[in-house]
Amino acid sequence: MKFFIDTANLHHIQEAQHLGVLDGVTTNPSLMAKEGIKGHDAILNHYKAICNISTGDVSAEVLSTDYESMIQEGTELSKLHPRIVVKIPMIQDGIRAIRYFSERQIKTNCTLVFSSGQALLAAKAGATYVSPFVGRLDDVSTNGMDLIRDIRLIYNNFHFKTQILAASIRHPMHIIDCAKNGADVATCPLSAILALLNHPLTDKGLAQFIADAKKM
Ligand code: G3P
Repeated sequence: MKFFIDTANLHHIQEAQHLGVLDGVTTNPSLMAKEGIKGHDAILNHYKAICNISTGDVSAEVLSTDYESMIQEGTELSKLHPRIVVKIPMIQDGIRAIRYFSERQIKTNCTLVFSSGQALLAAKAGATYVSPFVGRLDDVSTNGMDLIRDIRLIYNNFHFKTQILAASIRHPMHIIDCAKNGADVATCPLSAILALLNHPLTDKGLAQFIADAKKM
């Protein structure tokens, strides 16, 4: 399973990249706003800065919601760097835009996916990635991981190449469950990736080894 980091914070991207396990980056308008990125040029420059750190795909989301504007915006984003993936919302015009980009070999990530029907449509349109939001489903008392399992089954049935990019990942158990249920990618905050490192028996065992090493 690939690990993407879900942030627009350059320090977090750098830290995950240095760890040596990072396969890509996803952003969204909320994450960009959180970093104080404002205005057309600043947005484009920030995506370029992310591409200069990450060696994998970088999802950059369109801000418009009508077909023509999404095509214009996505085309501009895709020209920034060969590893830019145009992130497009799961709406009717969005599906048309995904088809447009897929016919031109421009990578897409269909975002805000909450049902297997939506994921089926995204795959039919030729999306490179589909982003089911696991945590937000959990927030409304619906098991987000069931959706990952359902999409995996549907994509396997018909050999769809669209990659399941599990999003809205909040904690390490989400990452482990994504791996068990066949997500191709989990996009996570840095905290969730680093939390995978922790186990009290590792800490205890290491402390013992360090103490015993002094006796050697
Ligand atoms: O990738 C989508 C993600 O950023 C949403 O996460 O925690 O706001 O539901 P969250």
